[in-house]
Amino acid sequence: MSLESCHNFKDFRKLAKRRLPAPVFHYIDGAADDELTKARNTSAFDDVDLVPNVLAGVEDVDLSTTLFGKKLSMPLYCSPVAIQRLFHHEGERAVAKAAAKHETMFGISSLSTVSVEEIEKLVDTPKMFQFYFHKDRGLNDNLLERAKAAKFDVLALTVDTITGGNRERDLRTGFTIPPRLTFASMLSFATHPMWGINYLTKPKFRLPHLEEYVSEGTNVNTSIGQYFSTMLDQSMNWNDAERLCAKWGGHFALKGIMSVDDAKKAVDIGCSGIMVSNHGGRQLDGGRAPFDQLAEIVDAVGDKVEVICEGGIQRGTHVLKALSIGAKACAGGRLYLYALAAAGQAGVERALNQYRSELERDMKLMGYNSVDQLRRSNLRFR
Ligand code: LAC
Repeated sequence: MSLESCHNFKDFRKLAKRRLPAPVFHYIDGAADDELTKARNTSAFDDVDLVPNVLAGVEDVDLSTTLFGKKLSMPLYCSPVAIQRLFHHEGERAVAKAAAKHETMFGISSLSTVSVEEIEKLVDTPKMFQFYFHKDRGLNDNLLERAKAAKFDVLALTVDTITGGNRERDLRTGFTIPPRLTFASMLSFATHPMWGINYLTKPKFRLPHLEEYVSEGTNVNTSIGQYFSTMLDQSMNWNDAERLCAKWGGHFALKGIMSVDDAKKAVDIGCSGIMVSNHGGRQLDGGRAPFDQLAEIVDAVGDKVEVICEGGIQRGTHVLKALSIGAKACAGGRLYLYALAAAGQAGVERALNQYRSELERDMKLMGYNSVDQLRRSNLRFR
């Protein structure tokens, strides 16, 4: 199996599974408890059908949209995801360059393996910095200052990781950052020699935004669940979010909003966007899917903030359905992460290319020239 044989999300996932040691693959692929929410995030799109119109003259299709004041060439971007160095030795650099080629946005996590300063120098495509609110206030201030100095366009505070989700695959594989060498993981690393060679010979795994403040994740092995539960501040509340928004002073979004009440509060504290998201089903299993919850949130706040639908997206038609409900854009992690693991920058570029072609083709088949023409009347719920 090669990159050329990857034609969709499932193909990239298959190739990633071959290339990655099992603990790393399952970290990306896994979710909380019984992984019901993760599955629903995608299957929710199947409960809605598109109703096309024809004879609309669709030779030119404009997929571009404006998000947080920046023009994106398509209504889909790469969500911030932690520790990408473990998925491919180029890590976040590969994603940044692929997003820049596609003139879309991408995000860098607080737990990224490439620094905001390096990313600033590398690309000038729109950038989002994902913020974890730590107990250590010095670390929080430093994160904010660095992201501001590196001219990131949006600060996205993650609000759905107040404690670690129950990721049983990680418990079984013993996945930690940095990776711990157990007998089982060693076997898996040894049977994926290319990953192992790159891990040992290419730039070392680092968490450049955290290493001066915490040793967990860099010098001390920790699981992501433990990190959330012990390092992040569980007392975080709306006042903290409001203060952070004011301190940042630019486009500010809450990542992980699922209720109408919270969406309204996000507007009240000055957010310019919200990501309707359940963290890819990795936190609260049994939680509702973003697409299922999208209409009521758009109806409540869609004219006041930019609503982004994040989670479960694997197809261009998924994006068109979310935009028809009223989302301004869509985003996701796994939608580019398997491609990153499969082939680095070339993989992410190929995946984004496929989403773009699907979007263009599906827009033509729907009878539309530009994404702002998408309406709820395009949809029928089963
Ligand atoms: C996760 C974090 C790191 O879901 O976003 O694993």
